[in-house]
Amino acid sequence: MALPDELLAELDELILNYPDRRAGLIPALHRCQEELGGWLSPEILEDCAEYFDMEPVEVYGVASFYPMFHLKPVGKHVVGVCRNVSCELRGASDITSRVCRVTGAQAPGRNSTDMRFYVEHLECQGACADAPMIVVDGVYHENLEPDDVDTILGELS
Ligand code: FES
Repeated sequence: MALPDELLAELDELILNYPDRRAGLIPALHRCQEELGGWLSPEILEDCAEYFDMEPVEVYGVASFYPMFHLKPVGKHVVGVCRNVSCELRGASDITSRVCRVTGAQAPGRNSTDMRFYVEHLECQGACADAPMIVVDGVYHENLEPDDVDTILGELS
């Protein structure tokens, strides 16, 4: 088991919120991804399987089903561009192009070569009234013009 003791202690607390231990798998995967480098390695998935008394393939099935889980290394900053209807009608394609140009990522689903950014497409984030929008390291930025992307990403360390 390679999961750090502090994280295991946190997971012990987390699963108390669920009537069935396995129901805590998705939030546990979120915490592992947040704490352990932004992605879920095969080793982390195996450790989670052991922790939840599941088969590794079951945990992999969950992690690979949801696009918010990354199964490969991602850049320091994760930039998601919503591509669903409201955002698309209000210019998401232009926002995507600008995000890729500013970050240096060749396309959504790719890292920049310096691993500073990972760019991904997102489905609706529930912010349609203020479309188009992006999510940068979990923070929403809404009602965007392409030039706003330069400002938002330029402020990152
Ligand atoms: S379509 Fe983009 S937030 Fe809903």
